[in-house]
Amino acid sequence: MIGNHRIEVLHGVNLDMLGKRDPEHYGTLTLIELEVRIRHWARELGLEATFFRTNAEHEYVERLHQAPQLADGLLLNPGAWTHYSYGIRDALEIADTPAVEVHLSDIESREEWRRRSVIADLVIGRIYGKGADGYREALELLAHELGLETPPAA
Ligand code: DQA
Repeated sequence: MIGNHRIEVLHGVNLDMLGKRDPEHYGTLTLIELEVRIRHWARELGLEATFFRTNAEHEYVERLHQAPQLADGLLLNPGAWTHYSYGIRDALEIADTPAVEVHLSDIESREEWRRRSVIADLVIGRIYGKGADGYREALELLAHELGLETPPAA
């Protein structure tokens, strides 16, 4: 393949409010600061990260429809949509592109309703409770899936 593998990072509902959300669950980084880190980590792994964020579910769905043209892999944090949006689930299935699900907070040890993910069986990996570092792990999974050599952890 010529050029870097492209990873589209899709941030869903309320993720634009990072920096103002409960730091105990979400840390203190703003979304822009988080994306700067992700871009940097992606480059280290030989990946090129692109970003999309929206609070509108239909825009998220439409971006997933374009995913096969946009990207070789997807990194999804759909926020609360994770727990109930069958529209997003169906769109991800249609996209048929390797995807990793990431959550900043530990969704397994919070409210009961956050334990359910309607996309869990469609993704190649799920990472939660590791804050921003979880995105690095997700990129490593995608790099591996795309056949790139992953450097040993520092
Ligand atoms: C989240 C977890 C979701 O339960 C929550 O609704 C979010 C963010 C996370 O990154 O921890 O908005 O996806």
